[in-house]
Amino acid sequence: MGNAIDNFSLTDKVCIITGGGGLLGERNADAISEAGGTPVLWDIKIDNARKIAERINQERDVEAGVYQVDITNKVSVQEAFRATLHSFGHVDILINNAANDPKVELGSDLAWSRFENLALSTWVFDLEVGLTGAFLCAQTVGAWMADRGGGVILNVASDLSVIAPDQRLYRQDGIDEDRQPVKPVTYSVLKHGLIGLTKYLATYWAHKNIRCNAISPGGIYNGQPDEFVTRLTNLIPAGRMADKNEYKSAVVFLCSEASAYMTGQNLIMDGGRSVL
Ligand SMILES: NC(=O)c1ccc[n+]([C@@H]2O[C@H](COP(=O)([O-])OP(=O)(O)OC[C@H]3O[C@@H](n4cnc5c(N)ncnc54)[C@H](O)[C@@H]3O)[C@@H](O)[C@H]2O)c1
Repeated sequence: MGNAIDNFSLTDKVCIITGGGGLLGERNADAISEAGGTPVLWDIKIDNARKIAERINQERDVEAGVYQVDITNKVSVQEAFRATLHSFGHVDILINNAANDPKVELGSDLAWSRFENLALSTWVFDLEVGLTGAFLCAQTVGAWMADRGGGVILNVASDLSVIAPDQRLYRQDGIDEDRQPVKPVTYSVLKHGLIGLTKYLATYWAHKNIRCNAISPGGIYNGQPDEFVTRLTNLIPAGRMADKNEYKSAVVFLCSEASAYMTGQNLIMDGGRSVL
């Protein structure tokens, strides 16, 4: 073990980030590269991921990678992993970050996300991206890590991995009670499921020197409507939503030797919302 600060270094570490082209995926890529590692962005939509990688490569002395991959498709995951290994030689960290988080106010029928109405296809799709995708990536990348002497898996969960959604956040005036929009059950189920996957992998591969933890961010401010922000802020002891860069240090901690004796845990960073 190095000194306390040296343990946070990710020098020479290669890190796959699923959903790397999204809001938090970009911050995860920044976190990895700021600590000296090389982020490899996996995303089904390649354009944004490419821009992020180009920016990071310009700003820092790294060669971030980008691969188009559908994490719900095993062949696609295996091909992306082969291509990643071919270019980078090794992978040390996997961040399972991609998930669907549909805006509940979207759709012609606001009641689409209510439990009674939720389409089976939505249930299957959300769980495929948020849970099956994490399973397939962990299976492919983790098995390789287990053979090669170890690694780190970080699952991006949510404060909704430990608490139920407060459906009052999504209420709209003038709509009947049984038509009010809600956060769909899929988000709760997949985020709780990710914690199960985290604990399972932490114990399953402990003897292979693989650590697996989860991070549970609270809501990130990203230009949401004022009324929503006020309602959510009222549920958060810290009195505000998170800044999008606020999780970076925790990601470095969880991916580095700084957390060497931590596995199977869920690091909840939610401004205190879940302890109320
Ligand atoms: N934004 C928040 O406030 C917040 C809060 C807590 C937790 N989270 C979690 O953080 C993670 C990232 O959230 P975000 O806000 O950056 O979301 P985002 O929608 O901005 O990014 C998700 C990314 O995943 C990609 N993706 C979707 N399906 C894919 C597939 N099949 N294969 C590969 N890539 C796919 C999308 O193209 C997108 O780039 C999610 O797991 C989310 O639940 C977000």
